[in-house]
Amino acid sequence: MKTTVRVIAGAAQHVEGVPPHSVDLVVTSPPYPMIEMWDGVFGEQDSRILERLAAGRGLEAFEIMHSLLDSVWRECDRVLKPGGMICINIGDATRTVDSNFQLYSNHSRVLRAFFRHGYTALPDILWRKQTNAPNKFLGSGMLPVGAYVTYEHEYILILR
Ligand SMILES: C[S@@+](CC[C@H](N)C(=O)[O-])C[C@H]1O[C@@H](n2cnc3c(N)ncnc32)[C@H](O)[C@@H]1O
Repeated sequence: MKTTVRVIAGAAQHVEGVPPHSVDLVVTSPPYPMIEMWDGVFGEQDSRILERLAAGRGLEAFEIMHSLLDSVWRECDRVLKPGGMICINIGDATRTVDSNFQLYSNHSRVLRAFFRHGYTALPDILWRKQTNAPNKFLGSGMLPVGAYVTYEHEYILILR
């Protein structure tokens, strides 16, 4: 069997030259909203994000980052064949904004976007990423005051 590979460079919101309903499978790992290392990449695409973060408005920044990803999901939906599949590697974020530590649930926000497009979720892959940090906390026993469970996994969402 002969395979041909075509590389298309550009923003994932507009993949030029890929006809509608022509793709069987999309596999992707987007930047993760609210993970600090991706703030700059998101901020370049919508300046409101860095303003919201600086103002301590974490949930608003989270939502604007996801609205950028929503445009990518629309493009994936445009190119996927009916019954096509998409696999998305995404991790949730834990972050303190304005003295408020919380989980930003990226995987559930992405699932919601796909449900709006009529996709069906299939069993996902939980990708364990264990840490050796001495202060990690998981399991039974007394929860120390102010402690939180160490985040040690990412998701590979699978949708049809
Ligand atoms: C979590 S990393 C995934 C890296 C990838 N798995 C690899 O091995 O190169 C997310 C990548 O998405 C890129 N990115 C961010 N916004 C993008 C956009 N609008 N269109 C295409 N790529 C984008 C980032 O620059 C980064 O390289």
